[in-house]
Amino acid sequence: MAAFLTASLVLFLLGFSSKVVAEGQRNITAEPGDNVILTCRADENKDVIVVEWSRTDLESDQYVVVYRDKRFYPEGQSPSFRNRVDLLDVKNRDVSLVLKNVTTDDTGTYECRVVQGGNNRRKRSLLDTDPICIINLIVEAGQRNITAEPGDNVILTCRAAENKDVIVVEWSRTDLESDQYVLLYRDNKLNPGAQSLSFRNRVDLLDVKNRDVSLVLKNVTTDDTGRYECRVVQGGNNRRKRSILKTEPICTINLRVKQGNQDGGNKDGQKEDGGSCTGWIGGFIVLSIASILLGAVVVVLLCKRQRYSSPRSD
Ligand SMILES: *[C@@H]1O[C@H](CO)[C@@H](O)[C@H](O)[C@H]1NC(C)=O
Ligand SMILES: *[C@@H]1O[C@H](CO)[C@@H](O)[C@H](O)[C@H]1NC(C)=O
Ligand SMILES: *[C@@H]1O[C@H](CO)[C@@H](O)[C@H](O)[C@H]1NC(C)=O
Ligand SMILES: *[C@@H]1O[C@H](CO)[C@@H](O)[C@H](O)[C@H]1NC(C)=O
Repeated sequence: MAAFLTASLVLFLLGFSSKVVAEGQRNITAEPGDNVILTCRADENKDVIVVEWSRTDLESDQYVVVYRDKRFYPEGQSPSFRNRVDLLDVKNRDVSLVLKNVTTDDTGTYECRVVQGGNNRRKRSLLDTDPICIINLIVEAGQRNITAEPGDNVILTCRAAENKDVIVVEWSRTDLESDQYVLLYRDNKLNPGAQSLSFRNRVDLLDVKNRDVSLVLKNVTTDDTGRYECRVVQGGNNRRKRSILKTEPICTINLRVKQGNQDGGNKDGQKEDGGSCTGWIGGFIVLSIASILLGAVVVVLLCKRQRYSSPRSD
C-alpha cells in the first residue's frame, strides 16, 4: 500500500515537472502554403546588433536567417529558407520571424538569439548564448483556424489571383460595422480613414505588389478574436468599383486569441488545461492528499503492531 502510494507520487511528480519545463516553449500550427510569424521581441531600449534564427535540427553553420550590422547574411542561410524569410521590425526590436509559404518540411523547433547594444558588441557567434525565444512550428493540413496569445504578431494568409494587379483590398471582421474596416488598401496605399480605431498602426499587408494580400496583425489582444474576411478588386475586373462589400470574400479566417499558460487567465473556458497557477494548486492538493493517505497507512500499521504486541508485554 505504502509502496503503491509512493510510486504514484513519484509518477505524478515526474509528469508535473515535465509540464513546468515545457512552459517556456510555444507551439504554432499552420497549413502548407501559409505565411507565419514566430513572435519574438528583444529587450527594450537597446539597439539590436545581431539576430540569429536557427532550427535545432539544422547543422550548426546553417541558419534560418542571420542579421548583423543592419544587413542580412545569405551566406549562412539554409537554402530552403532563401527568399522566404524576413524579420518583422528589427529597428523597433521586434525580431519576429516572418516565414512565407511554409511546407511540412518547415516543421521544427526554432530558436532566436540576439546581441543588443551594450552587451558583447564584438561577439560573432551566438550559438553559445541562451535563446530568447523557442517556438515549435507544426505544419500540417487542416489548421484553418488561427490561435494566438495576447502580444503575438499574426499573419492571416491570403493570396489574390495571379497575373492581375491588385487595385483594392478590404480586410473586414464580420462583427464590425460595415463602414469600419480592419484595413483598406486602394490606389497603391493604405487608407487609414476608413479603419476601425482598434487596428490603427497595428496592421499591414505582407506583399501586395506580388499579390500576397496576407494581413499582418501586430500585438494581438483577446478583443481581436473574430472572423476575418478579405475581398479584392484586381486589374481587368471592375476597376472603377469603390465598394466591394457585396462580393464574395476570397479568404475567410477565424482568429482566436486566448490567454496562454504564463498568464493563467483562461477566462473563456476553452479546452485549456489551466494556467501554471492551477497546475501548482492541483499539485499541492494531490500532494496533500497523498501525504494524508501515507500518514493514515503508517498510523494503521503502527496501531496493528501495537495491538498484537501489547497482550504479550503484559
Ligand atoms: C506542443 O506540441 C507537442 C506535440 O507536438 C506537445 O507534446 C506539447 O505539449 C505542446 N506544448 C504546448 C505548450 O502546447
Ligand atoms: C509555395 O511553395 C510551393 C512549393 O512548396 C510552390 O509550388 C508555390 O508556387 C509557392 N507559392 C507561392 C505563392 O510562392
Ligand atoms: C474553427 O473554429 C470554428 C469556430 O470558431 C469551429 O466551428 C471549427 O470547427 C473550427 N475548424 C477547425 C478546422 O478547427
Ligand atoms: C501591446 O499592446 C499592449 C496593450 O494592449 C501595450 O501595453 C504594449 O505596450 C504593446 N506592446 C508592443 C510591443 O507594442
